[in-house]
Amino acid sequence: MTPALPPFVVAVDGPAASGKGTVASGLARDFALPHLDTGLLYRAVAHALIEAGRALDDAAAAAGAAAALDLSVLDRPELRTRAAGEAASRVAAHPQVRAALLEIQRRFAAQSPGAVLDGRDIGAVIAPDAPAKLFVTARPEVRAERRWRQLAAQGEVVSLDEVLADIGRRDARDSGRDAAPLRQAEDAVLLDTSDMDISTAADTARRIVEAARARWLRSFI
Ligand code: DC
Repeated sequence: MTPALPPFVVAVDGPAASGKGTVASGLARDFALPHLDTGLLYRAVAHALIEAGRALDDAAAAAGAAAALDLSVLDRPELRTRAAGEAASRVAAHPQVRAALLEIQRRFAAQSPGAVLDGRDIGAVIAPDAPAKLFVTARPEVRAERRWRQLAAQGEVVSLDEVLADIGRRDARDSGRDAAPLRQAEDAVLLDTSDMDISTAADTARRIVEAARARWLRSFI
């Protein structure tokens, strides 16, 4: 009997509004794998904390909210707001929060036949052995415009300059924190989507992952 293959994990990391979410959901469709947007976990923790009237820098309360996280609430629209993104970046700097969310993400990645996870530390911390890793990025001005369009479509009125400032602040916080800072894993393929439309970015990502999958399958022969 042929032994079962281990899970095929696709790690997609990158800064805010780089296009990593769109790329990850396209890959999940193309490779028929479940997808976890791990940013939503941090957004949900921040939201729970705010609803409970606790401060975002209260590490113990944040860790408690992370441990009690209900995964069935991740599709709530209030988690997609500008304020939720900013608050998520703040709670994500607490090592206790990251530790509480580690197992949920590792369990998701361990399912058969595999999974696509997108975030900041998937390739470096959550799934360091993932056979396919992408680091999706784009110039800050391009990311700001994309995020601004998204927010406008959700009905949030904010200027492009404010969104660009948000992005700069979030990049600095997400890359500068001590606990699992945003960085490109050494073995991740860089995908700069600055000058790509959605379908070109999705096609390029699919080709990168197809090549990684072929290499991975050959390693079992
Ligand atoms: O991807 P996003 O914008 O939804 O993420 C919101 C914040 O959550 C982001 O600014 C940093 C944090 N985050 C993280 O630290 N690690 C992850 N794997 C995903 C998100």
